[in-house]
Amino acid sequence: MKTFVIFLLPCILLILARAQDNNGSFDPYATLFSPYTKQQWRSYQEKKINEGRKTELTFKVTYANGTQVEGAKLYIKQLSSDFHWGCGMTHRILNNTAYKKWFASKFTAADFHNELKWYWTERIQGQENYTDPDAMMKFADEHGIIVRGHTVLWDDVKYNQKWVKKLSPEKLLEAANKRVDSVVKRYKGRLIGWDVMNENLHHNFFEKRLGKNASSLFFNRVHKIDPDAILFMNEFNTTEHVNDELAPPEKYLRRMKKIQSFPGNSEIKMGIGLESHYGAEPIDLNYVRNSLDSLSQTGLPIWLTELDVKMDPKLQNSSGLQVIYLEEILRESFSHEAVKAMIIWTGASIDGCDVMCMTDENLVNTPIGDLIDALMEEWRTGEIEVVADFNGSCEVSVFNGGYEVTVVDPVTNGSSCVSFKADKVSSKKVDLKIMS
Ligand SMILES: *[C@@H]1O[C@H](CO)[C@@H](O)[C@H](O)[C@H]1NC(C)=O
Ligand SMILES: *[C@@H]1O[C@H](CO)[C@@H](O)[C@H](O)[C@H]1NC(C)=O
Ligand SMILES: *[C@@H]1O[C@H](CO)[C@@H](O)[C@H](O)[C@H]1NC(C)=O
Ligand SMILES: *[C@@H]1O[C@H](CO)[C@@H](O)[C@H](O)[C@H]1NC(C)=O
Ligand SMILES: *[C@@H]1O[C@H](CO)[C@@H](O)[C@H](O)[C@H]1NC(C)=O
Ligand SMILES: *[C@@H]1O[C@H](CO)[C@@H](O)[C@H](O)[C@H]1NC(C)=O
Ligand SMILES: *[C@@H]1O[C@H](CO)[C@@H](O)[C@H](O)[C@H]1NC(C)=O
Ligand SMILES: *[C@@H]1O[C@H](CO)[C@@H](O)[C@H](O)[C@H]1NC(C)=O
Ligand SMILES: *[C@@H]1O[C@H](CO)[C@@H](O)[C@H](O)[C@H]1NC(C)=O
Repeated sequence: MKTFVIFLLPCILLILARAQDNNGSFDPYATLFSPYTKQQWRSYQEKKINEGRKTELTFKVTYANGTQVEGAKLYIKQLSSDFHWGCGMTHRILNNTAYKKWFASKFTAADFHNELKWYWTERIQGQENYTDPDAMMKFADEHGIIVRGHTVLWDDVKYNQKWVKKLSPEKLLEAANKRVDSVVKRYKGRLIGWDVMNENLHHNFFEKRLGKNASSLFFNRVHKIDPDAILFMNEFNTTEHVNDELAPPEKYLRRMKKIQSFPGNSEIKMGIGLESHYGAEPIDLNYVRNSLDSLSQTGLPIWLTELDVKMDPKLQNSSGLQVIYLEEILRESFSHEAVKAMIIWTGASIDGCDVMCMTDENLVNTPIGDLIDALMEEWRTGEIEVVADFNGSCEVSVFNGGYEVTVVDPVTNGSSCVSFKADKVSSKKVDLKIMS
């Protein structure tokens, strides 16, 4: 499966021509896909999506006596998706019922922008306050939204409290251990995973003060408290920029190996967190594809954790370009099976979204919101209706996830309902028996 990717690219290379000349005007697609055409990228992505995200199912309808039921009607309804669309969330959601409803209707995953960070929960040493994250977690739990714990600690000195920066190494270790215990024990078992040491490729605040093994030690401590959680590294510029020497995929993987090979860490369920903050410029999709391919060789889940695309108001049609670039990065990322979730760093403008907004303050879509809605629709099965052939069977290709099928007897109209999973490991054959 994995070698396939490596194989296919050279094959495609052979048949690719340069993007067409567009008579001098700026064609963003020509820049994005060069030297390929948009159609060539799309058809490869479609192929990967079909292979990695969808399952071809065969339904077989029979009566209790074994007779095949020609003409049985099947109503297939998707209940859940194995892929998660997520969104950043802030405490501003808490007093806004309409925004809560909007959020819960679209997303099954979330990251809190700042509310779980140490500087938020213990601004003053010894005075912990979990009011905001507690309430946000309650909202998420009530709506089945899975939450990533962002972040236990942060290696960037500038996001550590003044009082933290002043501590001696001994006192810092004590305070950081206390922080780990406090936040992880509070939410253990309720989160899908934790960012343990945010941005430890670009930064090294804790390593400088506590030694080279600091990150590994904290991964170990978090794991001991919350052993089922996925523990993530979370970094920017691993896929965004080919020329940031601090965080390319090779360095990411090397750092992760260090953490995994630290005594006591071999059992940790690791995850690859990619912030994915893209600039207001054509994305190097070739680099993104290669990077995701190489990270996925680990077999570990990849989560895009803070995905956004900047807008440069100085450019002509800047908001149009933002939509184009966002669509391309979403499509490219979705076509990699290892990408298990994409959390978009956006929301409604009431939430003070950072560099892009899905809606205005009245929850009316922006072009970004329209794009995301359209892709959400494209990448789910929703509800379909099929009729069994003369053999009582039918074949349907569905996005991986949880389903319910209602089968209706063509003679009596009696119906029954079964639920099943569509994915790589579950059976591709669904036998439906109509009892009379
Ligand atoms: C570019 O020019 C050619 C011929 O001069 C014309 O056929 C074509 O439609 C033009 N393409 C665009 C995108 O304007
Ligand atoms: C099997 O059961 C169905 C529905 O009860 C009935 O219509 C059909 O005649 C039966 N077939 C045989 C071979 O008994
Ligand atoms: C929520 O609280 C903020 C700050 O107190 C306030 O500005 C805003 O109007 C409130 N929103 C709603 C919908 O109550
Ligand atoms: C804790 O945080 C909440 C929400 O931000 C705030 O309203 C409250 O005053 C804080 N409590 C203390 C004791 O600072
Ligand atoms: C880091 O951990 C390794 C493995 O336990 C150990 O061999 C090494 O001495 C430690 N390095 C430091 C600087 O503590
Ligand atoms: C990411 O890398 C680019 C290219 O090296 C650099 O210009 C940019 O500042 C980096 N992003 C951040 C947030 O540091
Ligand atoms: C601006 O970009 C959008 C794509 O988002 C495109 O449909 C539209 O034609 C562009 N407008 C101009 C004036 O180039
Ligand atoms: C349908 O049934 C016939 C006869 O029982 C069999 O020859 C044929 O292969 C079946 N077709 C499918 C698609 O299962
Ligand atoms: C079954 O449903 C169809 C359409 O809903 C209806 O025309 C038919 O009369 C029904 N048959 C029985 C046996 O109820």
